[in-house]
Amino acid sequence: MLDNIFIPQMEPWFGQEETNEINTYLSEGGWMTEFKRTSKFEEQIARYTNSKHCIVVNNGTISLTLAAIACGIEAGDEVIIPNYTMIASPNSIKMFGAIPVFVDVEPSTLCLDINKVEQAITVKTKAIMLVTANGRYPDAGIEAFERLCEKYNLILIEDAAQSLGSFYPDGRHIGAAGTVGSFSFSAPKVISTGQGGALITNDDTIAHKLRRLKDFGRSGGGNDIHDSIGYNFKFTELQACLGVVQMTKLEWRVNRKKEIYALYKDLLKDCSRIQFFNQNLEYTTPWFIDVLVEKREELIIYLKEKGIGTRTMYPPINKQKAYETVGGDYPISNRVGIYGLWLPSANQLTNEQVKYIAKSINDFYLETK
Ligand SMILES: Cc1ncc(COP(=O)(O)O)c(C=O)c1O
Repeated sequence: MLDNIFIPQMEPWFGQEETNEINTYLSEGGWMTEFKRTSKFEEQIARYTNSKHCIVVNNGTISLTLAAIACGIEAGDEVIIPNYTMIASPNSIKMFGAIPVFVDVEPSTLCLDINKVEQAITVKTKAIMLVTANGRYPDAGIEAFERLCEKYNLILIEDAAQSLGSFYPDGRHIGAAGTVGSFSFSAPKVISTGQGGALITNDDTIAHKLRRLKDFGRSGGGNDIHDSIGYNFKFTELQACLGVVQMTKLEWRVNRKKEIYALYKDLLKDCSRIQFFNQNLEYTTPWFIDVLVEKREELIIYLKEKGIGTRTMYPPINKQKAYETVGGDYPISNRVGIYGLWLPSANQLTNEQVKYIAKSINDFYLETK
């Protein structure tokens, strides 16, 4: 163990600035409900992603649900979703009776495989939910997805939960290409508000619907006049205190995540038994260090004994009991389910810790044939 400290796979990071902001807010006697700080946080995200509207909600699952409802997706409609993703992606639309149709991902990026997407389109397909895995965009290019959606009259929803700080090569922020893009601010994300989600869109009508949907269908701020059905998926000022401060640290975080990723890659370059994905550090920010490793379960135990935490990557959705093990051929996501591993990825990692982790991995493979 390095310096007798266990290195977790991930940990959130809030500093004195966040504490100060919360203390200041509490001393002002605020109502906690969404107000100026929430608007400021929304403006920060809209500006950073170059989007016309940003609407924050209570998490990055419900944000996807609201995105789908606001885009007109209904019970019985099919939505194409990658078989490799966090379970929240399909659950978000299953919640109101839409049908997730699972499609395998590209081996290089773990984003949807466009050829397989096209094969899965039926008369019931209404949308594609593109999950930009670990901040990556598909090798096929976002333009190819935009063309496909146009060809079949489909809505493109971007699940960019893992992609704050990641851009497409044409300069658009990930999440800004679809009709709606969705982010998550749960504890392990690039920035965190504890729980939280954000939606970005350039469409005024969709933005209007989203604001109504999250606030009981109210026709105006705080009134009790309801011209449409809505719910309560609001944010709080307390979360916004964290969010506005976290946004000021985003640039540093993004750069540090890229440095950590590059260091891992360099230190593990001679190890043939570990494989990185196609992460373009010029445009994208690796949220986690994701790799395919041989002898995964043995490596996890070995690293744990050395004081290093890891996490297995998402199992393929079609094999989750919750989805009653959907049949079909998903070789890439199945491979991730067997070999995929997240290495320690927190922004707080020191170079010394990354070197220790990489050395431990190299040692493991030297000792294990
Ligand atoms: C791809 C993806 N979509 C959605 C979510 C759900 O976000 P939240 O935890 O904020 O509900 C996550 C969370 O990890 C995610 O990784």
